[in-house]
Amino acid sequence: MTTEQKVHADKDGVATTGRDVLRVTDERTGQDYELEITDGTVRASDLRQIKVSEDDFGLMSYDPAFLNTASCRSAVTWIDGDKGELWYRGIPIEQLCDQSSYLEVAYLLIYGELPTTSQLEAWIFDITHHTYVHENIKKFVEGFRYDAHPMGMLLATVGALSTFYPDAKHIKDPEERYLATIRMIAKMPTLAAFAYRHNLGLPYIYPDNDLDYPGNFLSMMFKMTELKYEPDPRLARALDVLWILHADHEQNCSTNAVRGVGSSQVDPYSAVAAGVAALYGPLHGGANEEVLRMLDRIGTTDNIPDFLEGVKERKERLMGFGHRVYKNYDPRARIIKKHVDEVFEVTGRNPKLDIAVELEKRALDDEYFTSRKLYPNVDFYSGLIYEALSLPTAMFTVMFAIPRTSGWMSQWLEMVDDPEQKIARPRQIYTGGGPRDYVPIEQRS
Ligand code: CMC
Repeated sequence: MTTEQKVHADKDGVATTGRDVLRVTDERTGQDYELEITDGTVRASDLRQIKVSEDDFGLMSYDPAFLNTASCRSAVTWIDGDKGELWYRGIPIEQLCDQSSYLEVAYLLIYGELPTTSQLEAWIFDITHHTYVHENIKKFVEGFRYDAHPMGMLLATVGALSTFYPDAKHIKDPEERYLATIRMIAKMPTLAAFAYRHNLGLPYIYPDNDLDYPGNFLSMMFKMTELKYEPDPRLARALDVLWILHADHEQNCSTNAVRGVGSSQVDPYSAVAAGVAALYGPLHGGANEEVLRMLDRIGTTDNIPDFLEGVKERKERLMGFGHRVYKNYDPRARIIKKHVDEVFEVTGRNPKLDIAVELEKRALDDEYFTSRKLYPNVDFYSGLIYEALSLPTAMFTVMFAIPRTSGWMSQWLEMVDDPEQKIARPRQIYTGGGPRDYVPIEQRS
C-alpha cells in the first residue's frame, strides 16, 4: 500500500499530501484502489471492492481479538495508552477522583454533561428509591449453594431482572431506557450485597435510604445487630473513588460484550448480564482476585526474585501488570496507590502491601517488563483496599461490576441510538473441509 507522493506538512509537522485517501495496489490483479481515510481509519467494508474475479467475495480484514479495529464511534471515554491518560466525557480521571462522587460521575457518563444541583438531586433521589429488589429475587439468591461464587450469583440475578421488568425490551422508549438505567445502577449494590451475605449464611440487609450510595452498600454488607449502621466516611470515600475509577474504560472486553449482545436489540438487563459474564474472566475483572492470590503465594519479599524468574520463564503471569491499551503506568493504578495508605490508616497495615510495592519496584527495574511496556494496571492495588474492607477475594470482581454498570449503560445507550450500528456479526476465515457426504453411523470405522 502506498500513499500519495506529493507531501505537505500538517500542523504537527508530519508529512502529508493533504488528501485523506489510502491508495492500494492489488498485486494479484495490478488494480489500484483508493480507500477514504476518516478519523484515522479506513472502512473494512471498503476492502470488499478489491476482488480477483466477479464472483470473489472481496477482501476482508482479519483481526482476531480486535487488536486494530474500531468497532464503534463513542463519545464516552478517552484513553491515551502511551501517555497514560483517561478522561470521562473529556474530564481527566484525576479531577473526577478529587472532586466528584461516583453517582455524579455515573450521571456524567450517561448524559455527557455534569449535572446541575437540581439534576444531581433528582438523579440521586431516583437511584436511592430504586435500590430495593423484588422479594422473589431474594428467594432466587437463596436457591444458590452456600459456596456459590458471588460473580456467578450476580450474573444470574442481573439476567433475571429482565423477567421482572419485561417492558425494558422496548429499547426505543426513552422512559423505559431511563427506568432501566436507574434500576440497574440502583440495584447492582443490593444484588452484590445479597450474594455476599448468602455466602456467609447471614440474613440479607435491606437498603437504607438515609445513607449515600457507598455508605448504603457498606451497610448492606456489614450491618449486624446495630439498629443503624454508621459507615466510616473515610472507607466510604475510598470505595467511592474506586468506583469512579472503574466506571468506564471504553471498548474493553465486557463493554464489547454488552454492545455485541445489545446489538441484537435484547433488553438492557440481558445485555449487561453478558458484560458481567465477560468481567468474571481472570484476564479482565477477575485479575484483582488473582493479584491477591499471587501475593499470598509469594508470601514474603524474599521470594520475589524467584517468582519473577518464574514469570519470565512463562510459568505464570504477573497479575495486575500489563494492559492492551496502556503502555505506560495505568493512571487508575496511580490514584488507587494513593488511597491504599488512607485506608490502611483506618484498618491497619496489610503486610501484603510491602510485597506489592517491592514486586512493582523490581518489575519496573527489569528489562523483561520494561521492554514489553508492562506497568501496574488498575487491579494491582485495588484488591488490597478490598481486602482491607474485609471483603473476601471472591467479591473483588463484584466490586468492579457495581460501578462498571454505569459505563455499560452509557455505552449501551450510545449504541442503540447510533444509526450506523447493526447486529454485531463478524466474518470468519473458514479452516474446515468439505463438502463431503454424511456417513451413517453403522458405516463409520
Ligand atoms: N506478566 C508477564 N508477561 C506479560 C504480562 C504479565 N502480566 N502481560 C503481558 N505479558 C507479556 C506477554 O507474554 C507478551 O510477551 P511476548 O511478546 O514475549 O510473548 C507481551 O507481554 C504482550 O502481551 P499480550 O498478552 O500480547 O498483551 P495483551 O494486550 O493481549 O494482554 C492483558 C493484555 C491485560 C490480558 C495482559 O497484560 C495480562 O494477562 N495481564 C495480567 C492480567 C491482568 O492484570 N488483567 C487486568 C487488566 S486491567 C483491568 C481490565 O481492564 O480488565
